[in-house]
Amino acid sequence: MATATNSSTDTPASHLARVFAQYPIDVVRGDGVWILARDGRKFLDFYGGHAVAGLGYGHPRWLAALERQARQIAFQTNALPIAIRERAAAKLAKFTGLGLDTVFWVNSGAEANENALRMAFKITGRTKAVALEHGWHGRTAAAGAVTWGAIEKWYAFPRRPFDVAFAPRADPAAIDSIVDRDTAAVIVEPVQGVGGAYDLGKPMLEALRRRCDETGALLIFDEVQCGMGRTGSAFAANHYGIAPDMLTSAKALGNGFPVAALLMSRRVARQVQTDDMGTTFGGGPMACAVAEAVIDAIESESLLANVRTVSAYLRAHCRVGPVTGVQGLGFLLGLRTSRPAKEVQAALIDKQILAGTSGDPHVLRLLPAYILTEGHVDRLCEALAQISP
Ligand SMILES: Cc1ncc(COP(=O)(O)O)c(C=O)c1O
Repeated sequence: MATATNSSTDTPASHLARVFAQYPIDVVRGDGVWILARDGRKFLDFYGGHAVAGLGYGHPRWLAALERQARQIAFQTNALPIAIRERAAAKLAKFTGLGLDTVFWVNSGAEANENALRMAFKITGRTKAVALEHGWHGRTAAAGAVTWGAIEKWYAFPRRPFDVAFAPRADPAAIDSIVDRDTAAVIVEPVQGVGGAYDLGKPMLEALRRRCDETGALLIFDEVQCGMGRTGSAFAANHYGIAPDMLTSAKALGNGFPVAALLMSRRVARQVQTDDMGTTFGGGPMACAVAEAVIDAIESESLLANVRTVSAYLRAHCRVGPVTGVQGLGFLLGLRTSRPAKEVQAALIDKQILAGTSGDPHVLRLLPAYILTEGHVDRLCEALAQISP
């Protein structure tokens, strides 16, 4: 007897959901800052798997941590204490500084933001969140609700779970009227990633901090993309010397192994109770071992200094071909292009260099590994110089 299925008789060419546009590179291997394709081409990677591969591919310390932890114990629930979970939290809290010394481990950036927002609503008992125009915070119900343009483009839930107001990203004077005493949380990327490697800058971040203090709203820095060394400091918060109440981290935190974290100030942590948040995989031993190894590598190989030096070199030399300006911070850089960034990206792929685009059609986004050298930048500049403006 025939069983009911949803399939037609055609077998699809791919069994993957068709939600991602595909670059024309069939990846077989990664090595440092290089991606090797099935057809033998070797690409210099300025994209880093969307800001994830901070240490580059196959970093020995990262590999060793994975193997060591897998042999010892690959998984254990948060209900059982395990030394690596506590050790990695202590290491991350120390690396971050800023008094954010309580860590809740999760699996993705969106999940970290979802929990940060949840805690802000719970602690304040208020009904509204403020986010910035062009900000990106993830695809879950709360994170998507504070993502600029999500409702129009992909949100799909019938309504937002709370009130949201968006503030202009370059107008500190507008903050006072938008952040009020109904505001539970203000969530911002100090350097916007998808928004075009756009650095909010100190006056804006200071205005947000001051207004949150005045109104009792909690300030959340979403450093999922700009954090973990990418700006040349541990976090952009350190670069600007401004401490949020909560900070979220993911992407480069695991260098490719899924791990994310919500860091909380003492004021917030004091109000977190049993069962307020939860997770199965978050804080798994493999994820924690990897996060520990990533921080060790950044510190022992002086990678923050390298990011700052090579970023300055790139800014000084890359204004060639279609590039009219450089924005962003550290290794979250936007090359402003005279032609549509997608065309420049395609021309670079022809020259075996991979860069990203962004929400701004005239900004090409660079998110390279922290081990990038000036020699690699020279290659990029030579390639850009060959592309007509
Ligand atoms: C700033 C920022 N926040 C949150 C997210 C969501 O992270 P994830 O895809 O790990 O859920 C992203 C992803 O691109 C991001 O760039």
